[in-house]
Amino acid sequence: MIACLFDLDGVIVDTAKYHFLAWKRLAKEWNFDLTEEQNEHLKGVSRTESLEIILKLAQHTLSKEAFDKALEDKNECFLEFVNQMNENEILEGVTDFLNQLKQNNIPFSLASSSKNAKNILQKIGLFEKFDAIVDGNDIVNGKPHPEIFEKAAKALNTEPKKCVVFEDAVAGVQAGKRAGMKVIGIGEKEVLHEADIVIKNLTEISIQDLKNMIA
Ligand code: BG6
Ligand code: MG
Repeated sequence: MIACLFDLDGVIVDTAKYHFLAWKRLAKEWNFDLTEEQNEHLKGVSRTESLEIILKLAQHTLSKEAFDKALEDKNECFLEFVNQMNENEILEGVTDFLNQLKQNNIPFSLASSSKNAKNILQKIGLFEKFDAIVDGNDIVNGKPHPEIFEKAAKALNTEPKKCVVFEDAVAGVQAGKRAGMKVIGIGEKEVLHEADIVIKNLTEISIQDLKNMIA
């Protein structure tokens, strides 16, 4: 049985831009201008690890207390954006593709590093649709470690080789491959070259494509 495992930020909904804006605002406090290119390395990785990466880039250090406070501030800023979200922010092709999966009895799970994933799914009205949800609260090792996808496959009672992962992040594509799964990259081929195929959005994939990939 085929199963689909979806990343959230940048695949289901464009919250990737809100993470970027929130980090950018925070880094500005240390006079560091976070670029979109640098932000590519933050996609898919946990909140704590993202802050560590930014501090290294900015050549800035924080005490343990200031570090924890920065994590809180970033999340507060991110949640300001999230609180204004609704179903209009679901990315192109997503709703239709999830409906096709349902019609074909193909189960699907969320596999997101975000600790805000359930809240976001509720905001956009997709919470009930997923057969399983694995998020940042359920894992010890963040992407590119395969743990999150292994757990999501287990939650759907499916073997890794029957799973297709949808990912917009380099770290996420690597995690899916390390889990022994097929990976569809959402974004640019140059960035996501480790994926099995790369598409712009979910309008470009069909149930038959999934079957061909898993066959
Ligand atoms: C991932 C995002 O989905 O979740 C990352 O791609 C983010 O950018 C990570 O850092 C953790 O999210 P949160 O909501 O727990 O801070
Ligand atoms: Mg993502």
